[in-house]
Amino acid sequence: MSLRISVFGTGYLGATHAAGMAELGHEVVGVDIDPAKIERLSRGEVPFYEPGLPELLRKHVESGRLRFTTDAAEAAEFADVHFIGVGTPQKKGSYAADMTFVDSVIETLAPLITRPAVILGKSTVPVGTAARLAARVRELSPVGDDAQLGWNPEFLREGFAVEDTLRPDRLVIGVDKDRPGRIEEVAREVYADAISRDTPFLVTDLATAELVKVSANAFLATKISFINAIAEVCEATGADVVELADAIGHDARIGRKFLGAGLGFGGGCLPKDIRAFMARAGELGVDQALTFLREVDDVNMRRREHVIGLVEGELNGRLQGGKVAVLGAAFKPESDDIRDSPALDVAGRLHLKGADVRVFDPEAMANAAKVWPTLTFTESAAEAVKDAEVVVVATEWKEFRSLDPHAVADLVAGKVVIDGRNCLPAERWIDAGWRYLGMGRHSS
Ligand code: UDX
Repeated sequence: MSLRISVFGTGYLGATHAAGMAELGHEVVGVDIDPAKIERLSRGEVPFYEPGLPELLRKHVESGRLRFTTDAAEAAEFADVHFIGVGTPQKKGSYAADMTFVDSVIETLAPLITRPAVILGKSTVPVGTAARLAARVRELSPVGDDAQLGWNPEFLREGFAVEDTLRPDRLVIGVDKDRPGRIEEVAREVYADAISRDTPFLVTDLATAELVKVSANAFLATKISFINAIAEVCEATGADVVELADAIGHDARIGRKFLGAGLGFGGGCLPKDIRAFMARAGELGVDQALTFLREVDDVNMRRREHVIGLVEGELNGRLQGGKVAVLGAAFKPESDDIRDSPALDVAGRLHLKGADVRVFDPEAMANAAKVWPTLTFTESAAEAVKDAEVVVVATEWKEFRSLDPHAVADLVAGKVVIDGRNCLPAERWIDAGWRYLGMGRHSS
């Protein structure tokens, strides 16, 4: 059945969700306070890089099933189901999440709800937020208890956002168990065409739903830092972390995914989510339960230092004036997102230490240049590596993985490659005469 849906927030999460909901057959309006963003989206333009999303968005803007507005009242009038997909960034000077945007959507939307409606929060929030917001919605809405709020955490990955929205591997719906209302029924209608018979559809209380999201991200971050900690031990012993990860990954209880040792995790979710989780645990008086996440964060940040140290070592301790090519600026491939990007952080810090750094990324350069206007960005990988003494591969774009080591050798001043993502075919580079330094691996 086709529903009338609004999605508040048209950033990464909201824009993808709005287009996904239209693809599932619903009539959708996306709402944002930023008129420039709304104007671009209304023209069918996606303001960030996400494979498959521009096509989906255009399709539904053209079909008329998807539109965008800055007018919350219009959305409240139109829709019976309201999603909240605004950001919850890390607060300045603190580990905690900034709830300003979520709170402001509720303060704006709830008083405008004049007939029974369901609000589903998708943003990642500190546990306890949904219960607080549900009470606030009842208080502010003229229909009181008939304005119901549930929590429906989002697990999408950048680069696979469309696929993850249309074919989620599970759905989690948090409801207030004392007043479940119509939330489960409505959520099942919303996602009817996204779920197959065996898609897990889990209905939990509000706190559990909020915690599912942050614990999933905390687990993923822990898994990455675990293998990066082992990489440190491998580096000290001459063992090889890639072979090790393959071997332990065969144990189905462990699994090979997210055991990629390298420069560590970044992006708009994992780093800020583990920090907000620690901050929330502190407020709840259970900070000890999550102190290990401090280690997870520390191991992660050490990887960047490690790579900077390797570059310095290869330049005989002389970063000043050293010519370094950094391939990659995005926090991961198939994304132009540079939030908390290990690649860009390494490039920026090398630059601050006086190295002559040239950066190339297939998609993220415009975003990167806004944050690091003093860095040198090039038009191509070939231009970045020209005359470099050290080449650092910092994001595993396919374009970099498939570079021809012989061709690159002709351009550089020194045949030293640091594979910050263990993504290059090491043997080929070594055979082409390169000194190859992987992460937690034998160097040549
Ligand atoms: C993550 C979660 O996967 C997703 O479920 C949640 O909704 C949002 O946060 P995303 O930030 O898109 O998604 O990126 P993800 O693919 O999880 O990668 C996060 C970071 O970990 C990247 O910087 C990536 O390079 C790094 N990573 C990933 C590793 O260093 N090693 C690995 O083995 C896997």
